[in-house]
Amino acid sequence: MSEHATVESSQVAAVVVMAAGAGTRMKSAVPKVLHRLAGRSMISFAVDAASALEPQHLVVVVGHEREQVEAHLAEVAPQVKTAVQERPLGTGDAVRSGLAVLAGITGEVVVTSGDVPLLTGQTLTELVVSHRDQRNDITLLTAVVPDPTGYGRIVREGATVTRIVEQQDATADERAIDEINAGIYVFDAELLAEGLAGLQAKNAQGELYLTDVIAHAVAAGRRVGARVLDDYLQTEGVNDRVQLAAMAAELNRRILRRAMLDGVTIVDPTTTWIHDGVDLAEDVTLLPNTSLEGATSIGRGATIGPDTTLIDVEVGENATVIRTHAELAEIGDGATVGPFSYLRPGTELGVKAKVGAFVETKKAIIGDGTKVPHLTYCGDAVLGEGVNIGAGTIFANYDGVTKNTTTVGDHSFVGSDSVLVAPVHIAGGAYVAAGSTITGDVGPGELAVARGQQRNIRGWVARRRAGTATDRAAQAALKDAAGLGDQGDTLAGAQRQEEAE
Ligand code: UD1
Ligand code: CA
Repeated sequence: MSEHATVESSQVAAVVVMAAGAGTRMKSAVPKVLHRLAGRSMISFAVDAASALEPQHLVVVVGHEREQVEAHLAEVAPQVKTAVQERPLGTGDAVRSGLAVLAGITGEVVVTSGDVPLLTGQTLTELVVSHRDQRNDITLLTAVVPDPTGYGRIVREGATVTRIVEQQDATADERAIDEINAGIYVFDAELLAEGLAGLQAKNAQGELYLTDVIAHAVAAGRRVGARVLDDYLQTEGVNDRVQLAAMAAELNRRILRRAMLDGVTIVDPTTTWIHDGVDLAEDVTLLPNTSLEGATSIGRGATIGPDTTLIDVEVGENATVIRTHAELAEIGDGATVGPFSYLRPGTELGVKAKVGAFVETKKAIIGDGTKVPHLTYCGDAVLGEGVNIGAGTIFANYDGVTKNTTTVGDHSFVGSDSVLVAPVHIAGGAYVAAGSTITGDVGPGELAVARGQQRNIRGWVARRRAGTATDRAAQAALKDAAGLGDQGDTLAGAQRQEEAE
């Protein structure tokens, strides 16, 4: 009964994640396990998968550039303990370092690597379940792969696993084996400790191989089993940036597939990138070249793209976002954004609001039904409902020292090419005349006009641009006008009069 209960839950005593290697093939100042795919570090995927086992202890073995890895883990996975491997003497030494912080541990210890980003918690759970079902002392995760080069090979006698041989130590016959060691195992803790104690670096790489624990256990008459994973890509490690890109593409393909099966239309999966954790409702449509990043969520019926990047953006139902770059913004239900819009942090669009072409917004609350359709900078602004902002309006929010806020009340109308010099308050139901530079508040129902009075200086072209094409056009137009009777006579007369002045 109690045994049945433990089989039902996959809880284990500990998971040790090896992440201390130098990762030299990445050629990077950033430790390998901090490289990202689908918006997250490789180590965070490893920790997530391990967490599915609800381990009593979750230990990440760090070494190379460990300050960076520790700082990152403290941020994304504070529940994790770290153990330090002083020098990268091999995977056997890495696990030894991990066990050192788990002194006297008994039960099941799962070992994984920080550089196998597609591995799922489900796969780890199945591995633990099969370990228990087969009453093994060690269970390996293996896979049959198209190209086993570089991996440790599983050597079997009949069906029984007898040892693992590394690429560099393998004979030609052994290199022909296409079943590989995924580097993911369940161990009986005491057997593991005993096996690690006896490791020797007598191999081509001069390292302490964790994999040698297998042969030790077999020699000691213990049960070693293997679970062959059909989905071999889950076992694929990242050692260089070519593999990183390949794994990132595969992970993306899996995320897109999941989204499509959940009711999202993705017109061009080859140019659509979605981070792990993005939330998409049914009947969302994603057009080509769309990238959805961070904690982005898209409401039912919304259409995003083409050529759009959204980072931590919340999009409401039936909204449309075309050729837009947006970050830390909220877009209301039925709102429309783009083409060519730039929404910066703190932008909030209400229901059916509109931000159009060549508009940049920042810390801007844009009310329901409010329109900012063309060529505008709207920063530090609070716009009510049903406001219309004319083309080319600038919210001048910065006086060289501080940022100030502009407010525009409900159903007000700001004429084209206005500058609203903050701090300024335009009440609800007000008008601002086109071309105004507004520096003072505007009251309800008022029209603010703040621009020079128009003055037409007659005869200016004839005097100051004589002989130009413009002047000739003016003479012709005046002559035509003269032929029009009274009105023309007046114009021509006026011209003569100006000339006389
Ligand atoms: C290892 C396995 C190989 C398996 C492959 C699967 C051994 C000896 N070989 O080889 O059988 O097919 O993984 O990907 O175990 N690490 C440390 N400290 C060290 C060395 C490595 O923490 O001293 C960590 C690395 O950071 C990495 C993991 O262990 O996360 C695997 O190390 P890596 O050097 O990539 O091992 P492989 O040569 O790939
Ligand atoms: Ca590796």
